Amino acid sequence: MEGISDRLFRHKNFNFVASLTTPEYLDSLESFEIKDSDVFLVTYPKSGTVWAQQIMISIHEMHSYQTKYSINVERMPWLEYKTAEYALLPSPRLFASHLPVHIMPPGVKEKKPKIVYLMRNPKDNMVSFYHFSSALADLETPESFDQFFEWYITGKVYGSSWFDHVREWYLNRDQYNILFLTYEEMILDLKGSVKKICNFLGINLTEAAISQVVEKAKFENMKKDSKANYEHMPPEQFSGTFLRKGQLGDWKNTLTVAQSERVDQVLQEKLGDLPLSFIWE
Ligand code: A3P
Repeated sequence: MEGISDRLFRHKNFNFVASLTTPEYLDSLESFEIKDSDVFLVTYPKSGTVWAQQIMISIHEMHSYQTKYSINVERMPWLEYKTAEYALLPSPRLFASHLPVHIMPPGVKEKKPKIVYLMRNPKDNMVSFYHFSSALADLETPESFDQFFEWYITGKVYGSSWFDHVREWYLNRDQYNILFLTYEEMILDLKGSVKKICNFLGINLTEAAISQVVEKAKFENMKKDSKANYEHMPPEQFSGTFLRKGQLGDWKNTLTVAQSERVDQVLQEKLGDLPLSFIWE
C-alpha cells in the first residue's frame, strides 16, 4: 500500500493483506451464496476474534455431536481468504471475517444470517495490533509504537480504520441480524457473555455445558489449546502468540497521555454522534 507497506493492498476502500487474499477473490464474494443458517463472527483485527471463535465453536460442538475439527479455523474459516471448501462445512456454517459492511456478500443482507460483531477499546486494540504487526511476517513491522500509532489512527493498517469499521457496522445494524458484544464485557463476565451468545444463536445449553464452554475459553486454557491458539501457523510466518496478555487497560503501559487524548478526540469526531455507550469508558 502506497506510503506504508507493499504487504497491503487497497480494494473497495479497505486494506487487505496481500499474501492472504486477492481482489479477484474478494470480487467473487458478490455472488457468494449465503444460507439462512450461516453464522458470522465479524471483528476489526485484534478485537478478540480467536477467543469468540473458540466460544462459538464450543457452543455448537456442545449442542450437536458433529465431527470435531482439529483446529478452529477449519470449523470457522475466514470468509475473505479462500482457505476452505465452504460447501463441505457442516450446518450451520460458521465464518470469521474482518470485512466491513460494504464488502460483505449481498446475501448477508437478504437472508439475514446471524452475525456476532465483537469490538474492543481501540486503545487496547492498537497495542495488541502493534505487537501482532511485529510478529506476523505478512505485515510491515513498525519501527516503534509511535510510528504504528500514526498508521492506526489514520487507518493505514490492515483492516483500515477501527473507527470506520465500528461506525459502518453500527450504523447499518438494523439491516442485519446482529449481536454487538465487547471484549471488555467478555473479560468482566465470561459466563454471561457465553449465555448471551447462546441466546442469540438460539442454542439452549445446560449449565454444565455452559461451564465447559467457559472453561475452554479461559485465557490460560486457550493458550495451551492447540485447537484454538493458532500454533498451526509456521514460525517463519508468525513468531508471536495470539494469546498475548488478554487484559483490559494494557494501553496505559504504552500510550502517552497525548496519544490517549488524541484517540478520545477521534472517537468523539467519528463516533460521538452515535448512541453507543462503550463499556470501557
Ligand atoms: P492482547 O494482544 O491484548 O493480549 P484477535 O483474536 O482478534 O487477533 O485478538 C487477539 C487479542 O485477544 C489478544 O489481545 C489476545 O490475548 C486476546 N485473547 C485471545 N483469547 C483470549 C482469552 N481467552 N481471554 C482474553 N483475551 C484473549
